Amino acid sequence: MKVFLLLCLFCGLYGAFAKVSANIHSKKKFSVPLLNVTSHQLVLEANQTLQLNCRGRWELSWAFPASLNRSQVEVNESRCGRTSQHYCSSLRVSHAQAHHTGSYHCRYKPWTRKQRSIYVYVTDSQQPFVEDTGLRPDVLFMKVKEPLLIPCRVTDPKITAALVKLYTQVLTPDQESIMWDSKQGFTIKAPLINSTGLFHCRTIIDGVAYNSQAYYVHRQVNDITGVYLNTSESVQTLKGEQLVLNCTATTKLNTRVNITWEYPGKTNKAGSSFKRLVKHSMHMMFYNVLTIKNLQHSDRGLYTCRVTSGKQSKQQNVTVMVHDRPFIRLKPRNGSVMVAQAGQKSYKISAKLRAFPPPEVIWLKDGKVATRQCSRYKMIGASLVIEDVAEEDAGKYTIFVRNQKHGLLQNITLTLVVNVSPQIGEKAVSLQDPGSVPKGSRKTLRCTSHGVPPPHIQWRWHRCPSKGLLAAPRA
Ligand SMILES: *[C@@H]1O[C@H](CO)[C@@H](O)[C@H](O)[C@H]1NC(C)=O
Ligand SMILES: *[C@@H]1O[C@H](CO)[C@@H](O)[C@H](O)[C@H]1NC(C)=O
Ligand SMILES: *[C@@H]1O[C@H](CO)[C@@H](O)[C@H](O)[C@H]1NC(C)=O
Ligand SMILES: *[C@@H]1O[C@H](CO)[C@@H](O)[C@H](O)[C@H]1NC(C)=O
Ligand SMILES: *[C@@H]1O[C@H](CO)[C@@H](O)[C@H](O)[C@H]1NC(C)=O
Ligand SMILES: *[C@@H]1O[C@H](CO)[C@@H](O)[C@H](O)[C@H]1NC(C)=O
Ligand SMILES: *[C@@H]1O[C@H](CO)[C@@H](O)[C@H](O)[C@H]1NC(C)=O
Ligand SMILES: *[C@@H]1O[C@H](CO)[C@@H](O)[C@H](O)[C@H]1NC(C)=O
Ligand SMILES: *[C@@H]1O[C@H](CO)[C@@H](O)[C@H](O)[C@H]1NC(C)=O
Ligand SMILES: *[C@@H]1O[C@H](CO)[C@@H](O)[C@H](O)[C@H]1NC(C)=O
Ligand SMILES: *[C@@H]1O[C@H](CO)[C@@H](O)[C@H](O)[C@H]1NC(C)=O
Repeated sequence: MKVFLLLCLFCGLYGAFAKVSANIHSKKKFSVPLLNVTSHQLVLEANQTLQLNCRGRWELSWAFPASLNRSQVEVNESRCGRTSQHYCSSLRVSHAQAHHTGSYHCRYKPWTRKQRSIYVYVTDSQQPFVEDTGLRPDVLFMKVKEPLLIPCRVTDPKITAALVKLYTQVLTPDQESIMWDSKQGFTIKAPLINSTGLFHCRTIIDGVAYNSQAYYVHRQVNDITGVYLNTSESVQTLKGEQLVLNCTATTKLNTRVNITWEYPGKTNKAGSSFKRLVKHSMHMMFYNVLTIKNLQHSDRGLYTCRVTSGKQSKQQNVTVMVHDRPFIRLKPRNGSVMVAQAGQKSYKISAKLRAFPPPEVIWLKDGKVATRQCSRYKMIGASLVIEDVAEEDAGKYTIFVRNQKHGLLQNITLTLVVNVSPQIGEKAVSLQDPGSVPKGSRKTLRCTSHGVPPPHIQWRWHRCPSKGLLAAPRA
């Protein structure tokens, strides 16, 4: 009994194993899609039809050289296999041309890295180089001792080319320091300074020389000339709003940069950025715009834009404040009474004001708009400045701070006292001789004086000078 059971268990196990192994086999077979061409390359002649069939376990898509117009490519998709468990896709290019030479990929739509590739040459004796012989040279950047690729691909694997520098010096591939690959072009393994300048590739077919397009090789330098943020040093904003910062770097023409942002919300991936490059005739401009939607309190802090090029690095930073809600905070700076002196060149009346968003500020003097009352009253920022202070400037000054959009209004009233140095009125008119007064009579001497605060008047008596103009009063 026991033996039988064991045997059966064995059978069951074996069956299950066989199934699993078949499945694994199929999974392995289709871990990437299958093409009906098993070689890695295909050679067609111009005007022939390129047809590729592909099959896999998931939906398929194609990738092909950018020179192929989507409208020139015919793709058919269907289910295939005994139980239609597979996906099939075919690609057809009816009149393949030399410039369609390149890599063709059949890939799984959900996992585009899972792909099968084939390199297709479309030969054309009139067009040995894939790229059109453009009018303008293509610009390439090289770094000393880093491989430099001169991408003069060819349309036929049998073609070999030579690399020509400045139309004179011809460099032939030695497959050591200069390598030739019909699918890529020339690679200079460890270029030196003399690898800059104008290059092109050349091949001879039936005694006719063909040149590729020209390539202008620049030596890449790391020269950041400036980094700018399009904001002031600090940015104030409200919770829930959007923050957009534009960081611009200018560089020498042959410099490339990386621009990165450091900011409080970076770890939780708040914010997104996009990059652009603008070529000017004398310099390059790169910019990177950071956007943070729906700002939170946690987004306040330092935002740094770092621009690097090789070992060179420059940065700019900005502090961002995020306010929960709009506010106005208004307080007297130093009590509500202020003292100025008549004749003072200027006097500034101000209050402690903190507000966001920036409010509207109005100063009243004794209930009327100050700046309209007197041309000596000027608003500078949120302060009122009185020029050439005079006695009549004394009074009650009210500052109104308003944010109409958010329904905020605050005011405070300050009193200005203007001190006036005492003046003796009689001194203003010419000094009069009181004349001689008969002994024993009564004479009133008058002294009028004005000042703020009201002055005290004191009389003093002096003996007359003996030979003066004035008669000496007798004691
Ligand atoms: C391809 O066909 C066009 C016209 O159909 C013809 O002009 C051209 O010479 C052909 N190219 C080759 C390489 O046969
Ligand atoms: C792939 O299969 C299709 C149809 O079976 C055929 O027309 C085509 O020539 C094949 N492609 C290659 C490169 O063999
Ligand atoms: C692609 O084909 C369309 C229509 O045939 C044409 O208008 C367009 O210029 C072509 N684009 C390229 C890049 O060849
Ligand atoms: C696509 O399907 C249509 C109709 O079934 C057929 O005429 C055409 O030849 C197919 N094209 C390819 C590239 O298989
Ligand atoms: C640069 O100079 C070295 C020797 O100094 C020479 O071997 C090499 O061919 C030159 N390269 C180019 C692109 O002129
Ligand atoms: C960023 O600033 C640069 C330089 O001022 C400007 O050219 C560019 O258009 C700005 N980018 C955006 C998206 O506004
Ligand atoms: C900075 O540039 C961005 C992108 O163009 C723009 O949305 C933002 O308003 C600019 N900021 C300032 C303060 O100009
Ligand atoms: C930019 O960053 C990438 C990746 O970190 C690096 O490979 C590249 O050399 C950098 N470019 C420059 C110009 O520094
Ligand atoms: C911000 O930038 C300025 C000028 O670029 C610099 O002086 C300052 O140290 C920076 N602050 C911080 C915290 O990095
Ligand atoms: C503040 O007011 C007091 C008296 O009112 C005065 O002595 C002091 O100088 C004032 N301080 C400032 C900074 O104006
Ligand atoms: C000025 O502020 C006071 C409180 O500080 C308030 O009672 C008064 O209504 C305000 N005046 C106006 C005109 O808003």
